[in-house]
Amino acid sequence: MASKSLSTASRLTRTSATPLQCLRKPLSHTFAPSQRRAVSAYGYEQAKALTFQEYGDPPSVLSLHAHSISPPHGDLMTLRFLASPINPADINQIQGVYPSKPTFTTSLGTAKPIAVAGNEGVAEIIALGSKPKEQGFKKGDWVIMNGPGFGTWRTHASARTQDVMRLDEATREGISAVQAGTVSINPCTAYRMLKDFVTLKEGEFFIQNGANSGVGRAAIQLGKQWGLRSINVIRGREDKEEEERLKKELKELGADVVITDAELQSQEIKEMAAEWTNKGRAPIKLALNCVNGKPATAMAKLLASEAHFVTYGAMSKQPLTIPASMLIFKDIHFHGFWVSRWAERNPQDKQATVKDVLDLVRAGKFKDTPVDKIAWEWETKGEELIGKVKDALEGYRQGKGVFVFGKT
Ligand SMILES: NC(=O)c1ccc[n+]([C@@H]2O[C@H](COP(=O)([O-])OP(=O)(O)OC[C@H]3O[C@@H](n4cnc5c(N)ncnc54)[C@H](OP(=O)(O)O)[C@@H]3O)[C@@H](O)[C@H]2O)c1
Repeated sequence: MASKSLSTASRLTRTSATPLQCLRKPLSHTFAPSQRRAVSAYGYEQAKALTFQEYGDPPSVLSLHAHSISPPHGDLMTLRFLASPINPADINQIQGVYPSKPTFTTSLGTAKPIAVAGNEGVAEIIALGSKPKEQGFKKGDWVIMNGPGFGTWRTHASARTQDVMRLDEATREGISAVQAGTVSINPCTAYRMLKDFVTLKEGEFFIQNGANSGVGRAAIQLGKQWGLRSINVIRGREDKEEEERLKKELKELGADVVITDAELQSQEIKEMAAEWTNKGRAPIKLALNCVNGKPATAMAKLLASEAHFVTYGAMSKQPLTIPASMLIFKDIHFHGFWVSRWAERNPQDKQATVKDVLDLVRAGKFKDTPVDKIAWEWETKGEELIGKVKDALEGYRQGKGVFVFGKT
């Protein structure tokens, strides 16, 4: 068997280097597609990853890189990815404007350091060294990333136990790869923002913009689950039928009120808000903002005195402008939230939050955010995958792009 593997490995490379040296070379130049993965000599795993050498516009700087992963030993394990979403933060990270930077490395067999894109995803353990085994990890386990910067837009990866969080059998039961691969960022963000800044009582209101985003949809559903009422702001659509369809979709998720950013900024908004809140008797005590600019200021104006305004995104790329009176006379508390920092400081709570959300998913009480599944097979071309990343830069999308790995 060993001699067969060795001879196959030799055939696949056109050099006289040792098998190890051969397999550390980028494999895209040495494999014909039909020969792919014909061999995994000495347990080497063939992998492909969307990588970048320098920061910039994702379609210009990303490329699909093939490499191999040596058999795991010590505290290493080899992962095969199952699903990885394209989140706005991933795009920002490739552009170089995200605070969490990826690791640039030559360990994937390139002369110049490269980084693997993507921060969230779920993977299956396909091989492991002695230490992960001692810690209870086993082949076939599903893991999600512990923090940002791991690089999840790839078929396989070598990881250490501290890089990942294991989803135990009970947590994983009945959960799809897409659900597991998208649970740790958006639903956790919505969950913590609703819980950690103010204690809302049943029937009390929160208001949010970007309500049709992954985070927004999670907030609507979690809020409903906890007896809260929500006022949800979306961007208006040119196609009014589409706008109504979206409003209806969010109401079906549990939204109490859905308005457009134009309606939020209209003269009538005060009267409308008085009606929703029974003239302020059901006060709006929390606002969740991922947009900024004028719609965010308009949202803050609807808050009750001493309410909390949490900013967690900047989709409009506009600054957040706050009239001084909101601070002085209304004593509104302005906060920022970053799930990565929260997870780093509260690893146990992250585990519990993920478990809670997946329990709701399993119970049919938490619907998936709409996704555009992007099939990633071994043969899938780089241009195709990068084209999908480019699509994610557009607004008014029907669903979040998620790489779903097939035969890799
Ligand atoms: N701080 C944290 O820890 C944390 C964690 C998770 C997410 N986030 C942030 O939360 C936001 C939503 O992320 P997601 O993954 O949930 O989003 P998503 O599902 O990919 O959806 C994107 C959302 O952004 C809206 N949008 C796009 N361009 C916009 C613009 N120019 N002005 C206003 N809205 C715009 C979209 O509205 P349309 O449908 O109208 O285009 C949609 O609601 C992002 O800013 C992300 O970075 C932050």
